[in-house]
Amino acid sequence: MSQPAQISDSETRALLAELTAVCQLEGDVVEFGCYAGDTSVLLADTIRHQPDKWLWLYDSFAGLPAKGVADWSPHGRDFQAGALRANSDTVRHKFRKHHLPEPVIKQAWFDELDPTSDLPAKICFALLDGDFYASIRTSLALVAPKVVEGGVIAVHDYRNPALPGSAKAVNEFLAQHPEFTLRIVSGLALIDKKSASAKISLTDAPDSTNS
Ligand SMILES: C[S@@+](CC[C@H](N)C(=O)[O-])C[C@H]1O[C@@H](n2cnc3c(N)ncnc32)[C@H](O)[C@@H]1O
Repeated sequence: MSQPAQISDSETRALLAELTAVCQLEGDVVEFGCYAGDTSVLLADTIRHQPDKWLWLYDSFAGLPAKGVADWSPHGRDFQAGALRANSDTVRHKFRKHHLPEPVIKQAWFDELDPTSDLPAKICFALLDGDFYASIRTSLALVAPKVVEGGVIAVHDYRNPALPGSAKAVNEFLAQHPEFTLRIVSGLALIDKKSASAKISLTDAPDSTNS
């Protein structure tokens, strides 16, 4: 399998290490913005020996939507509406070529997806790579309620000056969701869902002054 064109070597290593660390948890793996499926096959290869764990891929396959004001950047003139068109058959072909189980592929704009019927009930790992503010915000809203304790949401382009909407969507999400915490690795935002025991130990810790 070749290095994906859309993400760097170090980002790929970080993503696969994170996925490996959580893939014993219950829940499936999702990628929002799969494009031509180059990262998708690496995700699938990482979970190939996990029983009953499926990969779900989402993309318009019509390329990027229009930018919003939050996405404007002097560094980002290349990211125009319709750029990065792809084809779901090309993605399926890559999976067959590498003898990987066929993923669930949903061709849609993210804001047209139904949270119940179009997403798995539980998610242990999500890669969000929709580039723009609205795409990241929508995909965060769809996946967050499904992430199991200890699971991870990885958001691409958090430190990419050409795509400032990614960091804005992540930072707004974190401000509204204290049950998630942020790490930054190789420019990726890694958003961890805290475990209930961590929450209990913070809120219910005995007051040492009373003992
Ligand atoms: C940078 S590419 C993804 C690259 C891919 N993750 C990889 O590693 O090769 C971004 C993709 O997100 C898709 N996309 C962005 N916003 C979207 C939206 N709101 N709904 C559906 N697809 C979207 C685009 O069609 C494009 O294929």
